[in-house]
Amino acid sequence: MDLKNIIFSKEEGIGWIRFNRPDKLNALNPEVFFELGKVIPICAADDDIRVVILTGNEKAFAAGADIDHMANGDIKTAFKLSDEAIVVQERLADLPKPTIAAISGYALGGGLEVALCCDFRIAADNAVVGLPEINLGIIPGGGGTQRLPRLINYCNAAEMIMLGSMIKAEKAERIGILNKVVSAQDLEKEVKAFAQKLMRQPAMSLRAAKIAMRKGLNTSLKDGIRIEQDLFCMLFGTQDQKEGMAAFIEKRKPQFQGK
Ligand code: COA
Repeated sequence: MDLKNIIFSKEEGIGWIRFNRPDKLNALNPEVFFELGKVIPICAADDDIRVVILTGNEKAFAAGADIDHMANGDIKTAFKLSDEAIVVQERLADLPKPTIAAISGYALGGGLEVALCCDFRIAADNAVVGLPEINLGIIPGGGGTQRLPRLINYCNAAEMIMLGSMIKAEKAERIGILNKVVSAQDLEKEVKAFAQKLMRQPAMSLRAAKIAMRKGLNTSLKDGIRIEQDLFCMLFGTQDQKEGMAAFIEKRKPQFQGK
């Protein structure tokens, strides 16, 4: 596959997607979203990929949408760019496997928005996150004003969005944006260990849990509970449910097969 702005690889059950515009702190231009749009369906379809990790380099996960590309844009350009970002981010958020953003350095604007589409965010202690778009005379255009207040409390989200403040890893963990902060040199090791824990879980249950939570966030509690019920009952048709419960009764560790 001809990829220039991201690097995609597969390693021991993990699909790695690395942003690769180091000269521009991995700023997200339309080509990046186009390439992301190509690899996400591959991650969804390939049964050997159990967990997907998005990452950047030491200095930046991604420092936002490409300002050079937007600076002289008109309304039509803005719609085109945000349409691409929204469609690709929806695909990422809906990917029926666990996704992790491994953040080192800056995760700003569109970079944070992509990370917010992942199930987990693990960051190095040098991470800085924010939605600074207001300082450019705009607002987030890839889901930031919607996903952030759904993730953390409204007043912290409002502070980040209205003041455009960039916050350090420790605070981002405290207010619930990050799952975990680790030392910069341990980021890859820690993220892999987290992914391996996920890979030991029953794959169909992971899928069902993710769909239940994601769909449930967009519906009423009553409908969400019925979505959960269908997925819960469906899991009684899997071998992993039989294995999980048999292992409990036999007082041994379950060996899940993802079936
Ligand atoms: N779009 C386009 N280029 C960007 C970029 C972005 N979002 N973020 C960084 N870059 C480019 C810089 O222009 C610079 O390019 P140059 O070397 O050709 O001049 C290069 O990446 C390095 O960035 P620089 O600003 O020199 O690094 P820094 O360490 O001094 O500052 C930031 C880092 C992240 C604080 C600063 O780059 C920044 O504020 N970026 C924009 C963040 C933003 O507003 N994102 C939301 C966009 S909607």
